[in-house]
This record gives sequence, structure tokens and C-alpha cells, in this order.
Amino acid sequence: MNISVIGTGYVGLVTGVGLANSGNEVLCMDVDEKKVAMLRLGKSPIYEAGLEDLIERNMREERLFFTTSMKEAVDFAEIIFIAVGTPQQEDNSADLSYVKKVAESIGEHIENYKVIVNKSTVPVGTIYIVKEIITQAVEKRGKKISFDIVSNPEFLREGAAVEDFLKPDRIIIGSESEKATRIMKRIYTPFLPSPEKLLIMDPLSSEMSKYAANCMLAVKISFMNEIANICEKTGADITKVKAGIGSDPRIGPYFINAGLGYGGSCFPKDVNALIHIAQDKNYEPAILKAADKVNQEQREVFFQKIRSFYHNDLKGKVFGIWGGAFKPETDDIREAPALNIIENLLDCKASVKIYDPKALERIKEIFGDKIEYQEENMYQAVKGTDALLIVTEWQEFHSPNFSKIKKLMKAPVIFDGRNIFSPLDMQEAGFKYFSIGRTSIC
Ligand SMILES: NC(=O)c1ccc[n+]([C@@H]2O[C@H](COP(=O)([O-])OP(=O)(O)OC[C@H]3O[C@@H](n4cnc5c(N)ncnc54)[C@H](O)[C@@H]3O)[C@@H](O)[C@H]2O)c1
Repeated sequence: MNISVIGTGYVGLVTGVGLANSGNEVLCMDVDEKKVAMLRLGKSPIYEAGLEDLIERNMREERLFFTTSMKEAVDFAEIIFIAVGTPQQEDNSADLSYVKKVAESIGEHIENYKVIVNKSTVPVGTIYIVKEIITQAVEKRGKKISFDIVSNPEFLREGAAVEDFLKPDRIIIGSESEKATRIMKRIYTPFLPSPEKLLIMDPLSSEMSKYAANCMLAVKISFMNEIANICEKTGADITKVKAGIGSDPRIGPYFINAGLGYGGSCFPKDVNALIHIAQDKNYEPAILKAADKVNQEQREVFFQKIRSFYHNDLKGKVFGIWGGAFKPETDDIREAPALNIIENLLDCKASVKIYDPKALERIKEIFGDKIEYQEENMYQAVKGTDALLIVTEWQEFHSPNFSKIKKLMKAPVIFDGRNIFSPLDMQEAGFKYFSIGRTSIC
């Protein structure tokens, strides 16, 4: 089928590439000319494992194309996916301006029946707003053109986006049109492990399912961080508690790691957006508000450990940071805890050296020459430091050469925001060691 994808970010690009990989002809459109120029050369503007290989392969097979022209994208496709950003606004609600702009452009160019699929995460009911905008733009041209609109929220995880798109655990289609549902089934069947993993529902429940999924995961993380903070006060060890509860099938082992809290481009904004949606309907969502509060405080909990170790005087201290991305296997730093930690350290007149396998360029765009970037390897970032901070749990940080680290550092002190080391091992290796929800070694 001929498909256009509007927006070539983490979701749109992966969607376009994934759909091309199952044989469709896909035209990806973005207003960002730099991104499109890069993509036309077969280069990915974002890091996702396996993505660049698939871009290159599907371009070679002449199934994947890129454009900045909306008219071209609308003319080309039988199905148009919308995958533009819905960032948080000042009042915490989701900013729908990009989605609305795309809807208007579709209405300005559409000439025959198409299925418009919204993949962006949007407040419940947005599907009808999009429908109305397209209808009005078509009517303005004095035309009457039929189209269907479908909600198809995306559940891929950054860091495993390609794998998640190609092997989804479920696909949700919110549709009121039998014809559009049939077309969506046809598109997704090659990716489904079994037919019952395609969940057809009404569009409002589909839009809500996306927020509910992200908020449930955010609540799990905040819950564990709260338990971790209680562990510290009582002498219990959160990693043992995690094992103790994660083996209960009603709880499960996923998303119950204590640490620096959730970040990224989705959880913080989606929790806030759902709070806004609820309050807009005069409902006070106590659990969502608590999850957000605990999450914000968790970064402060970590920073407080650092401050109190140095008796509130960080001036002139040098900190090495391992990890800038909001989680491993991505270069995305949106709402990453590293950003707050670096800002706090700089405010306290400390210096920072940072290493991250993929995110350094993006961190440079924010901090410029205010901090040092160690591109070569993680050990460079501990040289001459007063302490090492573990901020993202990249695989390569898990088993480092501790004697090498100790030799390179000014003082053997580690603040581990991701609990990747064992306190006993750290004690044996001669480090002062502070982590989350466990007894400190000092
Ligand atoms: N990133 C994730 O892990 C993830 C997962 C599931 C759902 N989502 C949701 O998917 C949506 C997109 O997220 P993302 O992370 O891919 O965003 P992104 O910021 O990475 O990408 C958005 C892209 O849209 C482009 N764009 C903006 N306006 C445009 C327009 N008028 N026409 C064409 N292109 C336009 C931007 O230039 C950008 O390249 C959001 O609603 C997000 O909440 C994201």
C-alpha cells in the first residue's frame, strides 16, 4: 500500500521504516529540512539500534522516500499517519498545535478517500477535533471528499523502538469505520504474533489507553522510589525488596527499579496531560499527582546525598558523570535526570565531565562549553574527579575496572543513581558508595 508518515521523529521514522520493511511504499514527510536532507542520504537523525540499516535497505529497495512537501505526502498515500510531537504546555496540557497544523494541511490537499491515522499521543476526543479541522479545510475549497480517521496510539519504547515496532505486544485501533478497520488490519497483520493482539475499540478508549499505559508505568516507578526512600530510613534494601515482590505474578518484575525517577519525552508530559484532562472534567487524580510529585522529588533526593556528603559545599569539586540519555540505548535527553543534576552542580560552582555512548552531542547543544565532554571512553570522565555519578545504566557501565577507576579519581567516591553496583563489592573495592534505597558505604 502507499503510506505517508507525517513527522520523522522517534515514532514517525520508526513507523515509516517498519511499514516499508513489510513491503509498503512509504513516503516520510517532515518540516525539518535538515532531518529530511540527512535521511535522503540514508543517515538517521536519531540513534535507535538497527534503524539506520533498515533505512538504507528500504531506500535501496525503493520502498522508502523522504520529502518536506505536504502536498506530495497527501497525494502519494492511501493512508496517512500523523506522528508529530504533542509536547507539554505551560499549563501542563498537551500542545495540539502540530497535530492541528497537519490536519489542516491534509484538508488543504486531500483529493480522494484516505484513511488518516493518528499516532501522536493526544487527549481523549482529539480524533474528533482532527476530523473537524480536515472537514472544514475541505469545505473551504468548495469540495466534499470522504475520509476516515483512526486512532492508533504507539507503544514502542525508545532504545528498543525498531524491535518493538516490528514485534509489537499489541496494536490498538480506535475506529468507527469498518472500511478503515479492514485497511488497518491489512497493514498490521505482518507484525502481529497472533490475530488477537490487534485490539479494535472505539477511538476515545484507544486515546485513553495510551495515557493509561504510560501513567501506570510512571506510577510503578514512583511507587518503588517511595518504597526505596522508606527502605533507607528503615535499613531495608530496595533491590532485595524488588526481588521479593517482583516474583509475585500479580506484581511482576518489570518497571519496579528504584532510581532517579522517570524522564524522557513521554512519561512526564503524559502524566501531566492526564492530570490536566481529569481536572478539566472536575476530577482530582490523586494517584497521578502523587506519582509526579515523587518523581520530581526523587532527583532532589539524589542530589541531597551528594550535597550532604560534601557538607553543602560543592564549590571547586569535580564530578564525573556516566550517562546523559534519559535511559540506555537512546540518544534522547528530553527530561533526562542528567540535565537537572548538571544544572544543580553548576549552580553550586562544581565542574562536570560527562561520558555517554550516544547522547553527548545533544548534551553539548544544551550546556556548550560549561562542562567537559569525554568522547573517547568512560574512564576519561573519572580522571581527576572527586566523585563519579552513575546517571544512566548503559550496559558498559555495569562491570568496569574498579582499580583503574580508583587510580584515576582524586577520591574513591561513587553516587549510583541506578543501583548498578553492589554495596558489598564497592566496600571491598575501597569506595565510598551511595545508592538509592540501600545502606550507604561511607
Ligand atoms: N518517543 C517515544 O518514545 C514515543 C512513544 C510513543 C508515542 N509517542 C508520541 O508520538 C508523538 C511523536 O513523538 P516523537 O518522540 O516521535 O516526537 P519527535 O519530537 O521526535 O518528532 C516529531 C517530528 O515531527 C515533526 N513535525 C512537527 N510539525 C510538523 C508538521 N507540521 N509537519 C511535518 N512534520 C512535523 C518535527 O520536525 C519532528 O521531526 C508524540 O505525541 C509522543 O507523545 C512517542
